[in-house]
Amino acid sequence: MDQIKIRGGKSLHGTIHIGGAKNAALPLMAACLLSDQPLNLSNLPHLADIATMTNLLTELGVNVSMNGAAPAGYAGRVFTLDAKKTTDIIAPYELVRKMRASVLVLGPLLTRQGRARVSLPGGCAIGTRPVDLHLKALEQMGAVIELKEGYIDAKAENGLKGCHVIFPMVTVGGTENILMAATLAQGETVIGNAAREPEIGDLAKCLVAMGAKIEGIGTDTLKVQGVKKMNQADHAVLPDRIETGTYAVAAAITGGEILLKGARLDLIDAVVDVLSRVGVEFEDTDTGLRVSRTNGNLKGVDLMTEPYPGFPTDMQAQFMALMTVADGASMITETIFENRFMHVPELHRMGADINVQGRSAIVRGNQKLSGAPVMATDLRASVSMVLAGLAAEGETLINRVYHLDRGYERLEEKLSACGADIERVQA
Ligand code: EPZ
Repeated sequence: MDQIKIRGGKSLHGTIHIGGAKNAALPLMAACLLSDQPLNLSNLPHLADIATMTNLLTELGVNVSMNGAAPAGYAGRVFTLDAKKTTDIIAPYELVRKMRASVLVLGPLLTRQGRARVSLPGGCAIGTRPVDLHLKALEQMGAVIELKEGYIDAKAENGLKGCHVIFPMVTVGGTENILMAATLAQGETVIGNAAREPEIGDLAKCLVAMGAKIEGIGTDTLKVQGVKKMNQADHAVLPDRIETGTYAVAAAITGGEILLKGARLDLIDAVVDVLSRVGVEFEDTDTGLRVSRTNGNLKGVDLMTEPYPGFPTDMQAQFMALMTVADGASMITETIFENRFMHVPELHRMGADINVQGRSAIVRGNQKLSGAPVMATDLRASVSMVLAGLAAEGETLINRVYHLDRGYERLEEKLSACGADIERVQA
């Protein structure tokens, strides 16, 4: 298994291209199942999760082809996804266990084919992550759902019926599954307490381009008038706000300055607000987002993760790495997932002073981090090891980097181009 070796202590200077958002690309790819016309997606990042979704769609009979140059201004790949001849309705355990987002094929399959058999995604390192809210909402729309042998067996022989769904808690995947299911349902569906993450707005924009009738995009109430069929569409995936925030922290934690090309400042308001209070400077220029440390030192700031537009949970581990070297203390509270502090014991190994009490962690800053062999446990925890390694004295060796490859494209290339001493080694 690959490892990543970092010799820390160098400040980063240079340019990093921000890719298309993983958490937009995955539901967008699933959306192709709604139409018998091709969907052209551009600015797709080159990530393990995209390959897994491609495999799943191919198993379902979708013809996925990779095209050449992306439209001007986008660096990602262009895929054409044609679900004209969908031959299957089963999302097998082997694929779903590798990537929980596979459950996003449930709504599209059910609303267009009237059937779906999707493996229940197991838990993962950060929490049990049930999909009960997805299923309850689909049952409200008339689906008959049975859970047997670890699979969701869903039927809607006469199609789904529009209704008023109100989510008791904000769920990104639940909102995406129901939004896609509603596009071909009979009548009107209103989704209350809908998640407002930008990736959902991007999905809604693509669905409208395919012929869906959606109102309230960007708000917590989405109103969908079902249509008979969907058409062909072209859509460019929006830039990855979590990748943007991650490399902004890389600039801050090493005391450098990085130009993030293709980043959109409007997608990371809460991250900019918090990092600015820490002492990080953001300058939106016509060539990209310039990020640097202001006057040299970083200040400890308290943080609570929240659904969008609050501070994203997917940036919590990266922020914690930054707080280990800031002046003073920081209290970090994780409100979205029940077990998203797996990075703490690894940061301890590097000399960080962090005390976890339930859903909160107190970080006492001003620590001189020292390099150490550490273990990646989930996608964002593993990138917080990279960030700490960039700031630490000595060598950090990160194991199980397959977690990283799920969500960060060419991470070591992007960082070494800015002066980091980082390489991928075969274990
Ligand atoms: C999406 O996961 C993202 N993944 C996650 O990013 C992100 O952390 C999360 O949203 C929150 O923003 C993708 O978009 C592919 P949720 P999702 O449904 O949809 C509970 C990353 O690092 N819940 O909003 O699975 C759930 O347990 C990943 O890129 C239920 O209880 O998240 C959690 O506590 C990690 N029942 C909370 O809601 C349900 O039916 C939020 O989950 C659904 C969710």
